[in-house]
Amino acid sequence: MIEIRNISAQETITVRHPVLRKGKPIESCYFDGDELVNTQHFGLYQNDKLEGVISLFENNSLLFKEKHQSQIRGMAVLENNQGKGFGRQLVEHAEKTLKLQNIDLIWFNARENAVGFYQKTGYEIIGNSFDIPSVGIHYVMWKKLRS
Ligand SMILES: CC(C)(COP(=O)(O)OP(=O)(O)OC[C@H]1O[C@@H](n2cnc3c(N)ncnc32)[C@H](O)[C@@H]1OP(=O)(O)O)[C@@H](O)C(=O)NCCC(=O)NCCS
Repeated sequence: MIEIRNISAQETITVRHPVLRKGKPIESCYFDGDELVNTQHFGLYQNDKLEGVISLFENNSLLFKEKHQSQIRGMAVLENNQGKGFGRQLVEHAEKTLKLQNIDLIWFNARENAVGFYQKTGYEIIGNSFDIPSVGIHYVMWKKLRS
Protein backbone atom coordinates (compact mmCIF):
# COMPACT_ATOMS: atom_id res chain seq x y z
CA MET A 1 0.00 0.00 0.00
CA ILE A 2 1.30 3.46 -0.97
CA GLU A 3 0.56 6.48 1.20
CA ILE A 4 1.89 10.05 1.24
CA ARG A 5 2.02 11.65 4.69
CA ASN A 6 3.11 14.93 6.23
CA ILE A 7 6.38 14.28 8.05
CA SER A 8 8.88 16.28 10.12
CA ALA A 9 12.21 17.60 8.86
CA GLN A 10 13.89 15.03 11.08
CA GLU A 11 12.04 12.17 9.39
CA THR A 12 13.35 13.14 5.95
CA ILE A 13 16.92 12.40 7.00
CA THR A 14 16.76 8.61 6.61
CA VAL A 15 16.13 9.18 2.90
CA ARG A 16 18.06 12.43 2.31
CA HIS A 17 21.25 11.01 3.78
CA PRO A 18 21.83 7.85 1.67
CA VAL A 19 20.47 9.41 -1.53
CA LEU A 20 21.50 13.08 -1.51
CA ARG A 21 24.45 13.21 0.91
CA LYS A 22 25.89 9.70 0.62
CA GLY A 23 29.07 9.34 2.71
CA LYS A 24 28.80 12.90 4.00
CA PRO A 25 28.19 13.95 7.62
CA ILE A 26 24.60 13.79 8.81
CA GLU A 27 24.69 17.56 9.48
CA SER A 28 24.95 18.13 5.73
CA CYS A 29 21.39 16.75 5.38
CA TYR A 30 19.79 19.61 7.27
CA PHE A 31 18.73 22.64 5.23
CA ASP A 32 18.28 26.23 6.36
CA GLY A 33 14.57 26.77 6.90
CA ASP A 34 13.73 23.09 7.45
CA GLU A 35 12.00 23.91 10.74
CA LEU A 36 10.13 27.04 9.65
CA VAL A 37 6.35 26.83 10.13
CA ASN A 38 5.75 27.40 6.42
CA THR A 39 8.10 24.63 5.33
CA GLN A 40 6.32 21.38 4.46
CA HIS A 41 7.80 17.89 4.31
CA PHE A 42 6.09 14.89 2.75
CA GLY A 43 7.03 11.23 2.86
CA LEU A 44 5.93 8.41 0.56
CA TYR A 45 5.39 5.19 2.49
CA GLN A 46 5.16 1.73 0.98
CA ASN A 47 3.69 -0.71 3.47
CA ASP A 48 4.49 1.74 6.28
CA LYS A 49 8.13 2.11 5.29
CA LEU A 50 9.43 5.52 4.24
CA GLU A 51 10.76 5.29 0.68
CA GLY A 52 10.77 8.85 -0.64
CA VAL A 53 10.70 12.47 0.53
CA ILE A 54 10.10 15.97 -0.78
CA SER A 55 10.27 19.31 1.01
CA LEU A 56 8.57 22.58 0.06
CA PHE A 57 10.01 25.92 1.15
CA GLU A 58 8.27 29.28 0.96
CA ASN A 59 11.00 31.01 -1.00
CA ASN A 60 10.83 33.36 -3.96
CA SER A 61 13.38 33.39 -6.77
CA LEU A 62 14.16 36.71 -8.45
CA LEU A 63 14.05 34.86 -11.77
CA PHE A 64 10.25 34.86 -11.62
CA LYS A 65 7.70 37.62 -11.17
CA GLU A 66 5.04 35.49 -9.46
CA LYS A 67 4.22 36.66 -5.97
CA HIS A 68 3.54 33.27 -4.42
CA GLN A 69 6.35 30.84 -5.14
CA SER A 70 7.48 27.62 -3.56
CA GLN A 71 10.89 25.95 -3.80
CA ILE A 72 11.25 22.17 -3.86
CA ARG A 73 14.27 20.84 -1.98
CA GLY A 74 15.43 17.45 -0.76
CA MET A 75 13.61 15.40 -3.42
CA ALA A 76 14.78 11.80 -3.08
CA VAL A 77 13.67 8.19 -3.41
CA LEU A 78 15.69 5.33 -1.86
CA GLU A 79 17.84 3.70 -4.51
CA ASN A 80 16.12 0.29 -4.48
CA ASN A 81 12.79 1.89 -5.22
CA GLN A 82 13.73 4.45 -7.85
CA GLY A 83 12.00 4.19 -11.21
CA LYS A 84 8.73 2.88 -9.77
CA GLY A 85 6.76 6.11 -10.03
CA PHE A 86 7.30 7.19 -6.40
CA GLY A 87 9.09 10.41 -7.36
CA ARG A 88 6.27 11.35 -9.71
CA GLN A 89 3.68 10.69 -7.00
CA LEU A 90 5.56 12.94 -4.57
CA VAL A 91 5.81 15.78 -7.11
CA GLU A 92 2.12 15.46 -8.00
CA HIS A 93 1.17 15.48 -4.31
CA ALA A 94 3.29 18.62 -3.78
CA GLU A 95 1.64 20.36 -6.74
CA LYS A 96 -1.86 19.47 -5.55
CA THR A 97 -1.10 20.76 -2.05
CA LEU A 98 0.49 23.99 -3.29
CA LYS A 99 -2.40 24.71 -5.66
CA LEU A 100 -4.78 24.56 -2.72
CA GLN A 101 -2.47 27.01 -0.93
CA ASN A 102 -2.70 29.44 -3.89
CA ILE A 103 0.92 29.09 -4.92
CA ASP A 104 1.51 30.40 -8.47
CA LEU A 105 4.83 28.82 -9.36
CA ILE A 106 7.19 26.04 -8.27
CA TRP A 107 10.95 26.27 -8.85
CA PHE A 108 14.07 24.47 -7.68
CA ASN A 109 17.72 23.74 -8.38
CA ALA A 110 17.75 20.41 -10.20
CA ARG A 111 20.74 18.11 -10.25
CA GLU A 112 21.92 17.54 -13.79
CA ASN A 113 21.07 13.81 -13.61
CA ALA A 114 17.51 14.50 -12.44
CA VAL A 115 16.62 17.00 -15.19
CA GLY A 116 15.03 14.26 -17.34
CA PHE A 117 12.78 13.22 -14.46
CA TYR A 118 11.54 16.77 -13.93
CA GLN A 119 11.01 17.30 -17.67
CA LYS A 120 8.79 14.20 -17.64
CA THR A 121 6.75 15.79 -14.86
CA GLY A 122 6.32 19.02 -16.86
CA TYR A 123 9.13 21.28 -15.62
CA GLU A 124 11.29 23.51 -17.79
CA ILE A 125 14.87 24.72 -17.49
CA ILE A 126 15.58 28.45 -17.22
CA GLY A 127 19.09 29.83 -17.73
CA ASN A 128 22.46 28.14 -17.76
CA SER A 129 23.88 25.39 -15.59
CA PHE A 130 25.75 26.28 -12.41
CA ASP A 131 27.87 24.42 -9.87
CA ILE A 132 26.87 23.86 -6.27
CA PRO A 133 30.17 23.06 -4.55
CA SER A 134 30.43 19.43 -3.38
CA VAL A 135 27.00 18.61 -4.86
CA GLY A 136 27.53 19.20 -8.59
CA ILE A 137 26.05 20.78 -11.72
CA HIS A 138 22.48 22.10 -11.40
CA TYR A 139 19.83 23.86 -13.46
CA VAL A 140 16.96 26.03 -12.25
CA MET A 141 13.67 24.41 -13.30
CA TRP A 142 10.14 25.69 -12.91
CA LYS A 143 6.43 25.15 -13.57
CA LYS A 144 3.49 27.52 -13.29
CA LEU A 145 0.54 26.22 -11.28
CA ARG A 146 -1.82 28.94 -12.51
CA SER A 147 -1.68 31.49 -15.31
C1 LIG B 1 15.16 11.77 -9.35
C2 LIG B 1 14.24 10.90 -8.48
C3 LIG B 1 13.67 11.72 -7.33
C4 LIG B 1 13.09 10.39 -9.37
O1 LIG B 1 12.23 9.58 -8.61
P1 LIG B 1 11.78 8.13 -9.16
O2 LIG B 1 10.81 7.57 -8.24
O3 LIG B 1 13.04 7.36 -9.43
O4 LIG B 1 11.12 8.54 -10.55
P2 LIG B 1 9.74 7.98 -11.19
O5 LIG B 1 9.80 6.49 -11.18
O6 LIG B 1 8.59 8.62 -10.54
O7 LIG B 1 9.90 8.50 -12.68
C5 LIG B 1 8.93 9.25 -13.39
C6 LIG B 1 9.38 9.31 -14.84
O8 LIG B 1 10.66 9.95 -14.93
C7 LIG B 1 11.64 9.07 -15.51
N1 LIG B 1 12.88 9.25 -14.76
C8 LIG B 1 13.12 8.95 -13.47
N2 LIG B 1 14.38 9.31 -13.13
C9 LIG B 1 14.93 9.85 -14.24
C10 LIG B 1 16.20 10.43 -14.52
N3 LIG B 1 17.14 10.53 -13.58
N4 LIG B 1 16.43 10.89 -15.78
C11 LIG B 1 15.47 10.80 -16.75
N5 LIG B 1 14.22 10.27 -16.52
C12 LIG B 1 13.97 9.81 -15.29
C13 LIG B 1 11.07 7.68 -15.32
O9 LIG B 1 11.57 6.79 -16.27
C14 LIG B 1 9.58 7.92 -15.44
O10 LIG B 1 9.26 8.04 -16.82
P3 LIG B 1 7.87 7.45 -17.41
O11 LIG B 1 6.78 8.26 -16.75
O12 LIG B 1 7.98 7.67 -18.86
O13 LIG B 1 7.83 6.02 -17.00
C15 LIG B 1 14.98 9.66 -7.90
O14 LIG B 1 15.43 8.84 -8.94
C16 LIG B 1 16.16 10.02 -7.00
O15 LIG B 1 16.00 10.14 -5.79
N6 LIG B 1 17.35 10.18 -7.60
C17 LIG B 1 18.55 10.48 -6.84
C18 LIG B 1 18.48 11.81 -6.11
C19 LIG B 1 18.18 13.00 -6.99
O16 LIG B 1 18.79 13.18 -8.04
N7 LIG B 1 17.23 13.83 -6.53
C20 LIG B 1 16.84 15.03 -7.21
C21 LIG B 1 17.66 16.14 -6.70
S1 LIG B 1 17.32 17.64 -7.59
